[in-house]
Amino acid sequence: MAGHKLIYQIYPTAIGSLRDIADKIPLIARLDVDYIWLSPIFFSPWIDGGYDVADYTKIDPRFGNMSDFRHLVTVCNKYDIKILLDLVLNHTSTEHPWFKASEKLDPWYKDYYVWLDRPLNWNSFFGGPAFDYDQVRGKYYLHLYDRSQPDLNFYNPRVVKEFKDIIKFWTNRGVAGFRVDSANILADSAFKPGYLPRIAGFFNYYQTTQTVDILEKLFSQHNIFTIAEPVGGNFMSKAKFRELTRKAFDASFNIGTLDVADTLFSMKDKIQKVHYKQWFKKLAKWTPEKKFSFALETHDTPRAVSRFEADAKVLAMLQFLLPSYYPCIYQGQELGTANPELSNNIDDYPGVQSRQIYQRLRHEGKNKAQAMRAVKRNSRDNARQPIDWAEYILQDHNEDSVLNFYRKLIHLWRTDVVIANGSLKVRRTTSKGVFDFDRVYKGKHYHVHLDLSNRTVSTLKNDLGQIIISSR
Ligand code: GLC
Repeated sequence: MAGHKLIYQIYPTAIGSLRDIADKIPLIARLDVDYIWLSPIFFSPWIDGGYDVADYTKIDPRFGNMSDFRHLVTVCNKYDIKILLDLVLNHTSTEHPWFKASEKLDPWYKDYYVWLDRPLNWNSFFGGPAFDYDQVRGKYYLHLYDRSQPDLNFYNPRVVKEFKDIIKFWTNRGVAGFRVDSANILADSAFKPGYLPRIAGFFNYYQTTQTVDILEKLFSQHNIFTIAEPVGGNFMSKAKFRELTRKAFDASFNIGTLDVADTLFSMKDKIQKVHYKQWFKKLAKWTPEKKFSFALETHDTPRAVSRFEADAKVLAMLQFLLPSYYPCIYQGQELGTANPELSNNIDDYPGVQSRQIYQRLRHEGKNKAQAMRAVKRNSRDNARQPIDWAEYILQDHNEDSVLNFYRKLIHLWRTDVVIANGSLKVRRTTSKGVFDFDRVYKGKHYHVHLDLSNRTVSTLKNDLGQIIISSR
């Protein structure tokens, strides 16, 4: 169906090398995916799981080399799957040669990053101040994320040109497009003289109009598929979403639709209840949006079945029976994978975010056990574990498995005109996880009854009341 694309996200270390990923493509292809999006595979010191890039045109040795990448492209071509890479534009690693040169005031590179004489009172996304003093240069640099991730200065045309070349480098090697990391915060207000946001907080930094101008210029010369990851989802209005995606992006996520129990980034120490009604309201608002990409989980969230305390098949129905133009499946979701039992020792956690949150909670007076409970439940490391391929094969052979249910739903989503194009009419939402809605197209009414708690059977019925698909 035109405008309908299925994206499948791979967090590469959870599968292995590029060769390992290539080996799994035939299996993944059976979900009938259009794109695989690979989280960063670039050369990196791996402080933020690859989102701290030290060389955008070199493959990190843990994944192999360029010839392995060529092999992956060949295999994907065979299965008619296109590759999206993860373009981390907002920042590099402090290990990137650009930063090293900028620190040393190299005339070409000195304005590649956001350097200030005095820090602003901003907080970084991972907690703590967003400005750090750099000993080499004797100035403060901005990092909206970790201190090892300095923000690039997108007002500098040389930086934009660098990324034009990087995009060309990868499209020449068979890449079809990019998922663009932190896409809405490239141009920030740090350069406004004396600019201090009223509240020291992340969400004051956006300069959407300038960011959009930069992105439109950057992507316009290439025939590529682009999907945005705007941060600060709850604060994103439809007007901002449409402004961001007007030309530069084919599709965009909205993290706000994943945040239903204060569990996403806020990492509360107490276990929060899932606010189903609130969540369904958000979904009803966002899913009819033509460029909205509906994801239930990513490498930044715990597993959906654990977070939403819901049945895997019903979650699948939610994703594919609501309007869904660019659904994105996160590796392992199609098996109904739940959070694993993570370690009780914070030193075992690879992710920078888990450790920073742990430190913050301890600092706020929580004891070790309380802090670890919050980390275990909410950590991004929940989603970054190796895929269980033995389980995959078992489910592949079991007619009633979650995997085969996903395959059936995806087929329906692709072939049924009412599911593909119908408008959404919400009938009922309850705080216990019931969501009833209709899909309406050219006089046809389908009725969807979803029960995330699985107390009742979830069904899709056509106008004649016949069941097209059901969770049990
Ligand atoms: C995005 C990524 C996340 C990363 C951050 C900084 O939100 O999804 O994993 O930590 O950007 O690059």
